[in-house]
Amino acid sequence: MKEKLTHLKLSGAGANMPRRILCSDVPTPCYLIDEAKLRENGRVLKEIEDATGCRILLAQKAFSNYDLYPVLEEYLAGTEASGLFEARLGHEKMPAKECHVFSAAYIPEQFDELLEYADHIVFNSPSQLRMFGPAAKKAGKEVGLRINPLCQTQEGHEIYDPCAPGGRLGTTKQAWDEQMDDALIAMLDGLHFHTLCEQNSDALEITLRAVEEQFGDIMHKMRWINMGGGHHITRADYDRELLKKLICHVRDTYGVTVYLEPGEAVALNAGYLCTRVLDFVKNGDVVNAILDMSAACHTPDVLEMPYRPPLYEGFEAGEKPYTYRLGGPTCLSGDIIGDYAFERPLGAGQRLLFEDMAIYTTCKNNTFNGMPLPDIWVVKGDEIVRLTDFTYEDFKGRLGTKDPD
Ligand SMILES: Cc1ncc(COP(=O)(O)O)c(C=O)c1O
Repeated sequence: MKEKLTHLKLSGAGANMPRRILCSDVPTPCYLIDEAKLRENGRVLKEIEDATGCRILLAQKAFSNYDLYPVLEEYLAGTEASGLFEARLGHEKMPAKECHVFSAAYIPEQFDELLEYADHIVFNSPSQLRMFGPAAKKAGKEVGLRINPLCQTQEGHEIYDPCAPGGRLGTTKQAWDEQMDDALIAMLDGLHFHTLCEQNSDALEITLRAVEEQFGDIMHKMRWINMGGGHHITRADYDRELLKKLICHVRDTYGVTVYLEPGEAVALNAGYLCTRVLDFVKNGDVVNAILDMSAACHTPDVLEMPYRPPLYEGFEAGEKPYTYRLGGPTCLSGDIIGDYAFERPLGAGQRLLFEDMAIYTTCKNNTFNGMPLPDIWVVKGDEIVRLTDFTYEDFKGRLGTKDPD
């Protein structure tokens, strides 16, 4: 059997990273995580922490490639989890740091084990607080409640808007007034709100106003306020000075520690997905280029969000002479990444490189249609290093009994 590559030298020093990756022999499809860019994002986040005293956690739902946690822990205060497994991962792989967890509802059989990993436990509702709060307090945990200020600051992307009418995430002021009592309030160390998605600090400013109007009196009694994720802090046009002002305002007005738990901002633009053209299918005016990656399996957010991922040296349809519809090899008609234009015609076997592929990809992919999982590599200086070695067993192992050895 041919031995798998584990390390590759990148040639073309001085050229930009996408070009160097495209010129390498890395097997496709694969994800590549750019350690240098993670550090750059980390430095931006650390500067906010240093300037304001806030504490920034990695939301693992966006990025949980734990081989890179030793890099991130230089800049971050810890991890945020959505349940037992992520909490365990954060605890195991960033053991010296804080481990927070929020779940819309905890699973009773798992709660004792969760207490072994998490130090901050955020509940979604007064009933969850009543059910699990006493055990969390007894175990010496910091206890919080997620509030929902019902303040919508985004248009579209309803699937990502926790403040949409009738939503299930967080306790509204009305629910608070109807269901919270002194005993429940006495258990609380902090409040949590998460309302943003890929937004600038002006949206946080609007949200904070709504939070303070509704919950300001309670905030004075808390030790910490967690302002959730969705802050696109490491994006070039993000207003970080306003963010700092808002953090300091909350810190000083209520005498609390402020937490942020971004996912995207931690690994924004810190990854690639390298793929290859397998074939072309012409249908009327459309030329489909079939790739060895799938939107449905390998970048589900492209269909779910939906969004158009940046493609190195790819342009808007019609902007350059050759336009193709890029799609996956699965049987799903809608397994389409988008229409992209190129300076020169594409050829079978040609490599393409999607950018900004570290977030909501490797932690969200699947093996629908029996699609293999793309391996994950890390770009470290002039080298790329393989982290995973996915095989048929990773597809099969999720579907039924294990074959006897
Ligand atoms: C509770 C909570 N915290 C943090 C995040 C991370 O958000 P983002 O990756 O947009 O920063 C999310 C995302 O859904 C979330 O639901």
